[in-house]
Amino acid sequence: MWIHAPSHGRIFDRLVEEHRQIVAMFDRALAQPTPEGCAAAFAEIAHFLRAHERAEEEILYPELEGSREIGDHVAEDRREHADLEARMRVLEALPPDSGAWSPLVRDLRDAFVRHAADEEQVLFAGARTRFGDDRSELLLIEYEMDRDLALKHS
Ligand SMILES: [Fe+2]
Repeated sequence: MWIHAPSHGRIFDRLVEEHRQIVAMFDRALAQPTPEGCAAAFAEIAHFLRAHERAEEEILYPELEGSREIGDHVAEDRREHADLEARMRVLEALPPDSGAWSPLVRDLRDAFVRHAADEEQVLFAGARTRFGDDRSELLLIEYEMDRDLALKHS
């Protein structure tokens, strides 16, 4: 008889995968040879990053906010989302051919990498064991619906 190992966390596997996708999008934006290419690549990052973060905040964070162990960390992650948003707004007001564009995109990439690593190591690691497979599967479906709605309407 086959015994399937419990997956306990397809929602987290998906979020980690999206973190990797976003880092790859930053690398593509930084490698663009023209200002138009930079602007288009950055618009794509901002669109996807906002949808990802909104869905995390609306679907995942409320599940963890009441936790004694990681509740405080959720508040910290919300602050980090606000910081990433502020950095994106600065960049959206800046022409890509200005000398500050690449260094600021690199700073935003680094801030995102730090945030994602922290989320993965503290929040997701702490939360993985809290949800059974069914709950995790349901959260994944809700997350994807919320993210796709954000992608469609922004
Ligand atoms: Fe996040």
